[in-house]
Amino acid sequence: MNIVVLTGAGISAESGISTFRDNDGLWKKYDAMRLASIDGFQEEPEAVLEFYNARRKQLLAVQPNHAHDALAELENEHDVTIITQNVDDLHERAGSTNVVHLHGELSKVTSSREREDDNCIKQYPLDLPIRLGDKAADGSQLRPYIVWFGENLRYMDEAIKLVGNADVFAVVGTSLVVYPAAGLVRSAQQKALKFLVDPSDMKGRLPIDFMHIKAKATEGVDLLIDKIKKL
Ligand code: APR
Repeated sequence: MNIVVLTGAGISAESGISTFRDNDGLWKKYDAMRLASIDGFQEEPEAVLEFYNARRKQLLAVQPNHAHDALAELENEHDVTIITQNVDDLHERAGSTNVVHLHGELSKVTSSREREDDNCIKQYPLDLPIRLGDKAADGSQLRPYIVWFGENLRYMDEAIKLVGNADVFAVVGTSLVVYPAAGLVRSAQQKALKFLVDPSDMKGRLPIDFMHIKAKATEGVDLLIDKIKKL
């Protein structure tokens, strides 16, 4: 079966990475438009670099959790594609081989002139801070390879196609409030089986035709896989 899973910050919460909009979420503590937007980077590049250097370093201290592992193992029986809004590398570290990052990757850096210039996108040591004055291959200021608010998504069309071809489409740990990623719930075919794993009641946010598995990712993904096994 062709299984496509859209993940958000909730799947990495039990690995110790804060989500964005929960009570202890990042955007409750930090100003998203100041630290995670293209305008913010132009106005205060040092503050933005400091914010991402800390998030990059944190990745060295966390591990994939059971939800990441279970989705990776599912590849033994099915074609599984992960479309993630997360910028961490926990899906890959758990062993998932088909991972599409919609919002970039903390483990990479790029040009501040042309973010998607493949000659400038590079893996960069997570404990090596990006500093003002560091240069990308095109001579521009080096920046984290992250899609900031106000920027386009390179892989959105690919994601829409992938979801459109899914037999099973599952959504795990995302509040579905950030577009265009949240719009992917409308890209699945009517005949596709649709599931949403989230411990909150998703009041007013549960998309039509989705079965809500109201649980944390480490439990909910097991319940999801049980349902898939019974198909
Ligand atoms: N297991 C599963 N889901 C969880 C867990 C958990 N242990 N803990 C929290 N959640 C759920 C919350 O109930 C919420 O619905 O995860 C969701 C997290 O939502 P957000 O914090 O809004 O994160 P996300 O949806 O990934 O944000 C989307 O917004 O800030 C931007 O670019 C950033 O990719 C991010 C995008």
